[in-house]
Amino acid sequence: MKSLQSVRGMHDLLPEQAESMQRLVQGASDVLAGFGYRLIQLPLIEQFELFARSVGEHTDVIGKEMYTLAQSDGDPLVLRPEGTAGCVRAAIQHGLVRTPQQRLWYHGPMFRHERPQKGRQRQFWQLGVEALGMQGVASEAELLLLGASLWRAMGLKGLRLEINHLGGAESRAHYRQALQEWLLVRADQWDGEIMERARSNPLRVLDSKDEAVRTALGEAPQISEFLSDAERAGFAELLEVLRENDLDPQVNTHLVRGLDYYTGVVFEWSSDRLGAQSAVCAGGRYDELVEQLGGQPTPCLGFALGWERVMLHLDAQAEAETEAAAGDSRDSAVDAVLIPLGEASASRRAILMANQLRTELPGLHLVMDIGGGNLAKKLRRADRLRARQVLLLGEDEMERGVVSVKLLYDAPPQGQFEVAQGSALLEYLRTSIHERGSG
Ligand code: HAM
Repeated sequence: MKSLQSVRGMHDLLPEQAESMQRLVQGASDVLAGFGYRLIQLPLIEQFELFARSVGEHTDVIGKEMYTLAQSDGDPLVLRPEGTAGCVRAAIQHGLVRTPQQRLWYHGPMFRHERPQKGRQRQFWQLGVEALGMQGVASEAELLLLGASLWRAMGLKGLRLEINHLGGAESRAHYRQALQEWLLVRADQWDGEIMERARSNPLRVLDSKDEAVRTALGEAPQISEFLSDAERAGFAELLEVLRENDLDPQVNTHLVRGLDYYTGVVFEWSSDRLGAQSAVCAGGRYDELVEQLGGQPTPCLGFALGWERVMLHLDAQAEAETEAAAGDSRDSAVDAVLIPLGEASASRRAILMANQLRTELPGLHLVMDIGGGNLAKKLRRADRLRARQVLLLGEDEMERGVVSVKLLYDAPPQGQFEVAQGSALLEYLRTSIHERGSG
């Protein structure tokens, strides 16, 4: 009988992963409480229309990635692809947006029918935060500093922060038009997909991964040229505040985001350790969404992080730290093990050589290999001593007045090479001691 498997792109979180995620959620919830955020939990199933009206009909999420549930009556239902729309829907429905400010957070599975690959599942877990009823630089700075605090609490290091300003409704509309005209005039340069985006959602062209398109876009109108004075000043102030608080965002004028509800500041934290799916966390301001979904105009902002990507980054980081620690301990190991090979005369010659080297180089950590076995066994012994290299002295080397050096710990490995006995060998080992001292 065919064995039953989990559905493609949907993964089991086995106890170790589930517990590790729970620990991270616990740490995050302490940080969130410290910033005044309160937990809200929302249904996994919502009406299709909620996302069509918020995420946008011309986005990939709505156009290609929705899990739609067939219903014999009523409006189509979907598995939620993200949390912002549901959170705003709930805030309107229960009157939360009537109180001046709300800081809300949620976590749970989201569903997108994307092509699965490393860091990209069809069911994935997000932790999202939404600040409703807040405008101005202080709220944007707070949100980004909350992100940085979450990374600290979870021990995530080395994420890159990119930021952009998409403008308010008016500046974005002017920019959209200018970009669309620029794209359509060059229609012969683009393939069908770019043309389709140029017509329906021109800002999404900026997202293209195609190198040729990206290069061509270097000449395209930039959003920064279309911002109002107030938007430009606010963005500059935000960057200053962030830098004052040790965040160093890179401004990326092509950062647009794949969901249509954003206005103003948008950002993305990404990791170099994840390959193509590098975005760990993303978000921004969405001042028009409450109104679009039937509420009163309410400025809002938020972000969501992907748990699987957080955990992949943490695993890769732990691996790199273990390797670095191994490298450090190698720095403190012996400089070289001298291995005489074969003839008894090699052993006598090695004793003499070791004695001379130690006399000439008092700081040298040189160990003589004593004991039988073949070369592999001798190398293993040297490795156990955490030696940086071995010096091989066999009949051939003795005849030619050299030693063969084999580096045991070296990236990239340089294999084996020869050094002449006498002053060249002294000089070579002196450098080795120096490297150990400065490493
Ligand atoms: P998003 O950029 O679509 O934004 O997703 C946020 C994060 O969820 C991504 O940075 C990534 O870590 C994770 N993610 C997205 N898709 C997948 C996938 N297929 N597999 C694994 N992880 C994934 C939003 O969802 C917005 N609701 C964020 C937001 C909140 N904006 C304002 N408030």
